[in-house]
Amino acid sequence: MGKVPRNRPGSQYDEDQLGFGDIFTEHMLQMVYSEEDGGWQTPEITPLQNLVLHPATMVLHYGQQVFEGLKAFAGPDEDDILLFRPDMNIARFTKSCDRLCIPAPDQGLFMEQMSKLIRLERDWIPKQHGTSLYVRPTIIATDTHLGVRPSRKYLFYIILSPVGAYYPEGFEPVRIMVTDKYIRACRGGLGEAKTMANYAASLLAAEEAHCAGFTQVLWLNAVDKLSIEEVGTMNIFFKMNNEIVTPALEGTILPGVTRDSVIHFARELGHPVVERQVSIEEIVKAAENGALQEIFGSGTAAVISPVSHFRYKDHDHMVADGKTGPVARQLFDELTAMQTGRRSDPFGWVV
Ligand code: COI
Repeated sequence: MGKVPRNRPGSQYDEDQLGFGDIFTEHMLQMVYSEEDGGWQTPEITPLQNLVLHPATMVLHYGQQVFEGLKAFAGPDEDDILLFRPDMNIARFTKSCDRLCIPAPDQGLFMEQMSKLIRLERDWIPKQHGTSLYVRPTIIATDTHLGVRPSRKYLFYIILSPVGAYYPEGFEPVRIMVTDKYIRACRGGLGEAKTMANYAASLLAAEEAHCAGFTQVLWLNAVDKLSIEEVGTMNIFFKMNNEIVTPALEGTILPGVTRDSVIHFARELGHPVVERQVSIEEIVKAAENGALQEIFGSGTAAVISPVSHFRYKDHDHMVADGKTGPVARQLFDELTAMQTGRRSDPFGWVV
């Protein structure tokens, strides 16, 4: 790829004011799959454009779709563009496609084309601390057909969005509400795939939580309504009795890239981390007897999101002193420093 001018076109936004997901860069990647034409066609980088879809397009009816989210960062050297563990996102995309009966694009081609697009749009990568270029690979079923079956045509596309903090609170502690009224996923369902249906399923509970003054919903297991699964769109961690605990992956939880990074990185920093079932009753008890030291969520969008309070069965519980805990702070600082090349990367995660 040749050098592209380093002036961001039009400078349409102020990096201080960047929220999440409203601004898009000028180009996108598109690649079509057609069974009758022998599979994947040649990928193309095009101007960002609307998709023109027939009203019977299958994704609009049966939700056959998969997406990913990762971030590109400006490195300390002006010319560096850094990606954080993109191989994990691409592998998860393939796994999600398998679950949704979607033919996944070749992983090497995915990486190559995504890198090409990001390089082309490099002037859109914001530079300020806490900002990045969010990368959204997506695949949708594009057959026009109303019978229920896997589509025979797909569109794979990647769009890019310069972003700041995901939550308006930024890296401030949030209040979460435990729901035993709704469930997000059950074993054998779609919970571990990154697909639109999981997010649709979460909306009503999230709206009710917002109306009650909470930022996120804490999801419980569908069967026992006790084991903790995820918080909003993030994985969750608890620090109790000086040990960090996170729910084990048992088929209903999205295997987060940040989750995996937190587990390895926290251990590297000397914190014991355990993956196991953890019940809401255990957390309530720990909050009551002073053993609960921290709760935080982890995800690509927010990185680390500390929790100050949680509500369960109409009772509010404060997490320790209600302030951001030291482990959440340390992980946020160290992970964001690693992602932006301001700290060493003992794992070789930054590409
Ligand atoms: C994340 O936390 O990275 C997410 O999955 C949120 C995204 C759907 C906006």
